[in-house]
Amino acid sequence: MSNSASLASLADDFERFKRELPRDFPAHVRDAYRINLAARYLGEPVPHPIGKGSGQLSLNLGQLETDAEAGLAFVVLKTVIAQDEAGAQSMAAWAIHESKMKVERRGAGWTVTWKGRGWDRSFDDYLALVRTGWDLTRDGQLLTVPSVKYHLPRLDEPFRAAEYAFTTGALAKAWGRSPLLLVKDFSPTLAGDPLSDEKAQILRWLREVPQQIRAHADVRLAMKLMNARSDDDFQHEMMEAASGADALVVFNRLFDSKQGVAYGGPELSDRNLRVLARLTPGASPGIPECCGTGNVSSGRMIVEYALRGCGSVQLHTFFQLPLEEYPATDGSRTQRALHALVFDPRDGLIAVMLEREASGLLQRRDGELHFLDLLPDAHRPR
Ligand SMILES: Cc1cc2nc3c(=O)[nH]c(=O)nc-3n(C[C@H](O)[C@H](O)[C@H](O)COP(=O)(O)O)c2cc1C
Repeated sequence: MSNSASLASLADDFERFKRELPRDFPAHVRDAYRINLAARYLGEPVPHPIGKGSGQLSLNLGQLETDAEAGLAFVVLKTVIAQDEAGAQSMAAWAIHESKMKVERRGAGWTVTWKGRGWDRSFDDYLALVRTGWDLTRDGQLLTVPSVKYHLPRLDEPFRAAEYAFTTGALAKAWGRSPLLLVKDFSPTLAGDPLSDEKAQILRWLREVPQQIRAHADVRLAMKLMNARSDDDFQHEMMEAASGADALVVFNRLFDSKQGVAYGGPELSDRNLRVLARLTPGASPGIPECCGTGNVSSGRMIVEYALRGCGSVQLHTFFQLPLEEYPATDGSRTQRALHALVFDPRDGLIAVMLEREASGLLQRRDGELHFLDLLPDAHRPR
């Protein structure tokens, strides 16, 4: 099909899928457009690059089932606060309960304002969610990955190994397969905490946390980096220090210290893309596989993250917009979001990949355009 014929059928698909998005839309995209959306998260092949970041939208079975049904590529479960065998949590200040969220405009985009932090129910409840997530993963319905905030010491303190041991061991048992896939969250509220006042302290965490976790189970580890309250150079130093992880999630929300809240929107994606752009292909071989997060609200933004080395993205805010903000008229928010991200005729993933083909920036291989070919060579999965 020619580029202009593809654009015509894209306009048709966009209209027709407003009512119902086919669950296996990646197969449709491959058939109809010869575009292969296959992507990668934490070393796992996924059918397309769009997943859900950890937060209030991955707290229970109902949310996971809705996401599986919509055909989301993966979901990171809400972050649990690590504990030792007796239930002691050094990061207990992060396990607070707060249910009220406010979705509001920020600049030309959106942010969710929320004063809560980590998982606020029991650890046993979390393990039950992990087991449910494993069932969906095993059955090929939805890749789910647990997320933890572990103890982070001051420079002159040791890591509390008992928290690492108990939490990692219990998650590995609840997860049905070895290695355990796991995200370690360095959250934005941490950036605003006095614990993060020293750069040397942050760099030590990033260097030493992988071995602290791996001492207790076979783990494939993603580290979700915060945006530190420092300059782009330091953000880059953090990525290098985190090279012991198998993957990085880059980068969690910005922290507004005046209001004491984390926020997203265009400022977040500007900062993230600016820092990622400095990883010139081939010049940063130590940097692990990356997954983008922050203000992903169009296929065009997914492409921006991919061009800077991200083999997938994980969203929160765009799954939470008022219903009238989505072009689709039916379906769950996850389905409506996927519909806009993939099929929007101007800024959707298909449209932007075709646009790059037309301008000679993306070539077909064996007759297909490949999402992963957007990544710079050095970042492509081998
Ligand atoms: C209400 C809310 C709660 C969140 N909770 C967590 C969390 O527990 N752990 C975590 O790693 N990220 C958490 N995040 C960050 C999101 O996963 C995501 O990385 C971030 O919001 C940037 O993406 P977005 O601009 O698409 O929202 C949370 C975000 C929001 C809005």
